[in-house]
Formats: sequence, C-alpha cells, structure tokens
Amino acid sequence: MRVLVTGGAGFIGSHVVEALAARGHEAVVFDVRTDTGSDVRDRHAVLRALSGVDAVCHQAAMVGLGNGFADAAEYVSRNDLGTAVLLSAMAEAGVRQLVLAGSMVVYGEGRYVCARHGEVRPGPRAVADLAAGRFEPRCPACGRDLSPGLVTEDAPADPRNVYATTKLAQEHLAAAWARATDGSAVSLRYHNVYGPGMPRDTPYAGVASFFRSALARGQAPRVFEDGCQRRDFVHVRDVAAANVAALEAGSAGGALTAYNTGSGEPHTVGGMARALASAYGGPEPIVTGEYRLGDVRHITADSSRLRSELGWKPEVGFEEGMREFARAGLRGD
Ligand SMILES: NC(=O)c1ccc[n+]([C@@H]2O[C@H](COP(=O)([O-])OP(=O)(O)OC[C@H]3O[C@@H](n4cnc5c(N)ncnc54)[C@H](O)[C@@H]3O)[C@@H](O)[C@H]2O)c1
Ligand SMILES: [Zn+2]
Repeated sequence: MRVLVTGGAGFIGSHVVEALAARGHEAVVFDVRTDTGSDVRDRHAVLRALSGVDAVCHQAAMVGLGNGFADAAEYVSRNDLGTAVLLSAMAEAGVRQLVLAGSMVVYGEGRYVCARHGEVRPGPRAVADLAAGRFEPRCPACGRDLSPGLVTEDAPADPRNVYATTKLAQEHLAAAWARATDGSAVSLRYHNVYGPGMPRDTPYAGVASFFRSALARGQAPRVFEDGCQRRDFVHVRDVAAANVAALEAGSAGGALTAYNTGSGEPHTVGGMARALASAYGGPEPIVTGEYRLGDVRHITADSSRLRSELGWKPEVGFEEGMREFARAGLRGD
C-alpha cells in the first residue's frame, strides 16, 4: 500500500518509513524537517501529498512537556489544528484509513488500587507534597498508600499538561472524522519510546534521551523524584512494527480504536538510568529529588489488546534495547 507518513523524518516516523519499505509498502514522507518543508497545517500541501495514497500514518507533532505554559498555543496549533487540516483534506481526497501516533499521556496518573476503596483515581500531586519528597499519590478517599496497576484502553482520559491535552484532542478529532466519513481510525497509544535516532535532550524530549545525552557528555544521568516512578519503555522498532500491523489490518469504519503500545514490562526510571549507564560504561546515576509539575508518578500499560487483535508482539527486550541505545547515535549529535 502507499502510505503518507507525516512526521516521517522524525524519530519514530523514520523507523515507520523503514518498516513499511521492509514489508514492500511505499512510504511518502511529509515533514517540516525535510528540504521541501511540508507542514500538516498547509491544506494545499497535504492535498497534493494525498494523491494516490491508501492510508495516512500521522506521526507529526510537537512532543515533550515543553516550557511551562509558554508554548501552549504552538502545541495546539501543530498537533490539533494540524490534525484537523489533515483529516479534512483526507475527507476531501477520499482517503479512508488513518493510524495515529497516540500517547499514554492521555491517561494522566493511570490506574491505582486502594486496599479499602478498590480502584481509585488520584488527582494531580500537590506541590507541597512533591517539595517534601512525598512522591507517591495517595487514596483520595482515605489517604492510604496505593498500589499502581496496568492501565487498559478503557481507562478514563485525564490529561495533565498541554501536550497531553493535544494528544487527547487528536483522538477525538480522529473519532469525529471516522464517524463523518465512515473512515477507519486507529490510535496507537505509545508508552515511552526509545532507541536509535532519538532526539538529543531538549524540553521536548523523553527521559531516555536526557540520560543518554548526559552520558554522552561524560556526566551522570540525573534521576528526578526518588527514581522509583514506573514506566513502560518500548523500543522504536517495535513501535514501528505496531504501525505497520495496524495499517495492514485496518479497522472497522466509523469509529476510533485505541491500542496501548508498550512492552508490557514495567521498569522504574531509576532502573532504566542504571541499565543505560552500565551499558554505556558511564558514571552511576544520581537521584536528585527534583520534580516537574505535570509529570505523573507511575504509568504502565496493559498492551495485550494489541497482541491479541493485531498479532503484534515486542521483539526487543529491555536489556538488549538499552545496550543498543547506549551505543546508538542520537539525532542532533
Ligand atoms: N517519543 C515518544 O516516547 C512518544 C510517546 C508517545 C507518543 N509519541 C508521539 O509519536 C509521534 C512522533 O514523535 P517522535 O518522538 O518521533 O518526535 P519527533 O520530534 O522526532 O518527530 C516528530 C516529527 O514531526 C515533524 N513535525 C512537527 N510538526 C509538524 C508539522 N506541523 N507539519 C509537519 N511535520 C511536523 C517534526 O519535524 C518531526 O520530524 C508524535 O505524534 C508524538 O506525540 C511519541
Ligand atoms: Zn482508600
């Protein structure tokens, strides 16, 4: 099939392009970063690029936590206006299949269980608690410690920052488009993606990139909070394979189907820093106790739906992936 890959010059998009080619598909790259500089907010450019295309794999977005609230309008413009322009051009061009780069950030704090109250949804953590080193969210009803669980696709959305809000709005726009056009829309809610070609550290990068960039400078990775925050680190080639699986399978028209896209194997951020530092042969990580407002404590995925419905499974194990990532180049080096 011929697939338009927006953001196809980016970290994940470039791996999707490779994975499509390896399966005999034709990928058309659409990205502001390329020489031709194609912006998803440019309706005419999108319409031209959609010619002869069977499906769109929409990776283009402004990512990361950003700089406080300063770049809120730019996030909304690139991610939501961009998605709306893309979808309306697809409606006009009659392109009926979309795979969207979704994100686990739509879940906010994820899923917790209180021994007395069962499943609960703790709100954002208070600044006073974070400043005092009380990082674990507590039961909103009784204040007890909670145990974190695996988040499933039906968990309620609870975006905690501007980026998360724009990723959720992208899904709502895609669902509205699917209903209006009887189109097929899939959102792959990626967890923490890492691997070769990850951008160097900027306010728009992920935690694995911060640690890898510090090691490249000869410095110790600086681990925020107490390092016990849990994440699901999934390798970029596995994420690219999930995109190809979703494109090949299609989905029922008229609605959006969401799939958690994670390794299924939770790790702590501190543990990831140690694995990466040791694979790199660099200094041991330092746990700093710093925190970022808008960060969540634990968020780990149940990605069994992607396995059972699309036949996908992750191929790159954590240790192996971290060893490769320690040696691989970052974008911008
Ligand atoms: N990296 C992760 O851990 C992660 C996790 C969850 C979701 N995602 C999502 O995956 C997608 C890809 O992210 P990435 O990590 O590869 O980031 P990236 O910054 O490497 O790639 C994004 C690409 O989109 C392009 N782009 C941005 N705005 C554009 C616009 N207006 N028009 C055309 N191109 C534009 C950029 O030039 C870039 O090449 C994003 O939608 C992101 O929200 C990433
Ligand atoms: Zn309770």
